[in-house]
Amino acid sequence: EDAHLSLDPAFEIAPVNRRLFGSFVEHMGRCVYTGIYEPGHPSATPEGFRGDVLDLTREMGVSVVRYPGGNFVSGYRWEDGVGPDRPTRLDLAWRQIETNRFGLHEFMSWTDRAGVEPMMAVNLGTRGIQEACDLLEYSNLPGGTHLSDLRIKHGAAEPYGIKLWCLGNEMDGPWQIGHKTATEYGRLANETAKAMRLVDPGVELVLCGSSNSQMPTFGAWESTVLEHAYDAVDYISLHAYYEEDGDLGSFLAAAVDMDRFISSVVATADHVKARLRRTKKMMLSFDEWNVWNQARYEGREQGDFEEAPALIEDTFTAADAVVVGDFLITLLRHSDRVSVACQAQLANIIAPIRTSPGGPAWRQTIFHPFALTARHARGTVLRVEPRSPLLDTARYGEAAQLSAVATLDDEGVTVIAVNRSAHEALDLTADLRTLGRLRLAHTHLLEAGADPHATEAAVVPLANAQLDGDQLRALLPAASWSLIRLT
Ligand code: AHR
Repeated sequence: EDAHLSLDPAFEIAPVNRRLFGSFVEHMGRCVYTGIYEPGHPSATPEGFRGDVLDLTREMGVSVVRYPGGNFVSGYRWEDGVGPDRPTRLDLAWRQIETNRFGLHEFMSWTDRAGVEPMMAVNLGTRGIQEACDLLEYSNLPGGTHLSDLRIKHGAAEPYGIKLWCLGNEMDGPWQIGHKTATEYGRLANETAKAMRLVDPGVELVLCGSSNSQMPTFGAWESTVLEHAYDAVDYISLHAYYEEDGDLGSFLAAAVDMDRFISSVVATADHVKARLRRTKKMMLSFDEWNVWNQARYEGREQGDFEEAPALIEDTFTAADAVVVGDFLITLLRHSDRVSVACQAQLANIIAPIRTSPGGPAWRQTIFHPFALTARHARGTVLRVEPRSPLLDTARYGEAAQLSAVATLDDEGVTVIAVNRSAHEALDLTADLRTLGRLRLAHTHLLEAGADPHATEAAVVPLANAQLDGDQLRALLPAASWSLIRLT
């Protein structure tokens, strides 16, 4: 059986939002310390940032970076990370010693160097409205108040103007420090959001949705927190991690679950909108997503507190890269509702970029589909109406064998496709008849079929792709991700 797409400029989903190519830096393990920040490293900038990691971050095309957590933020005192006195503290989330050598100013200089937008999280675990407003005043007010003047005294004359703010992290999770019921959190988030808007009306606020769609409170949580905070926030968050867990066939179709998760949150948000009789459309922030090839972290409960321990430094495979490529296709296909997305995390922690302290930094397999998608998905996302054979998966039920998206910009078209079958190649035809004259500009293929668990993945041309009049044809190898650029 073959698969088929139709590309038509009339069928637009939404403009490609650069914020979909976000990442995440948490004070966890070696993401900050010896990840993005390592004074004394041979590549270090004067501020102590690893130059090799900055180069890779730019090469990846990362647009927005969420910070400083994650679970970490729920016990964090932002004041510890500014000014000359940096207290060493216990981090209860990951049982770490936090030296606070890296804090807000360092992060903001790093975002400048990396050319990315900051996305800040406030602590709604151990703290509340006042501390969130204090951090916002410190960050965004030009001066003339105690906290904005303190920022200036600490060396940042200009306000940071941070737009995106997360109202806590995974507050539905019992593991979260200061975990709350939906009603408790909904009320607190609403009051925090209202107060933050009084400090700076220009902020965009993200309400915590569920930590994942398997949470027993999933759905009910979204409904309750949105009911409390609908008017005061702009986004509701989603988090999801996927792993192979002995079933490659299901794993290759994991994006089916991400797709259903997004649709369920959209339906829940729209249901609350209808009940409240509002016109505002709630947007989604998928601010933690990735492959995470291990059961939920539980290793350090008995251990001692340590400084920058090596935590969940997963080595990714070719199959992981195909699945990550499919997640990006899925996020793009939902661009009409998902307007922020952050892969978790950027360096060392389940990350596309790994480093060794004092040594090199390198790209993992999952780096490649991210970088190529971020570079070539431009303009407008098109609804391509794929027709595809179906796969039967043990974990996710029926799944289309083809996952695909296309984008259209002033210079051309990008088609991105995943063949989710572990064993069967797939013949793809894309009808381009409404798009005028095009030629194949370049093609990229990442294949996992032959050795899904290889920890290197070469990106090579999709040599069999051809343009036959206004029909694009390609044979997509089993378990593969492809990107075809036409201009
Ligand atoms: O990204 C690792 C952790 O996963 C984050 O701290 C938390 O938000 C999620 O559970």
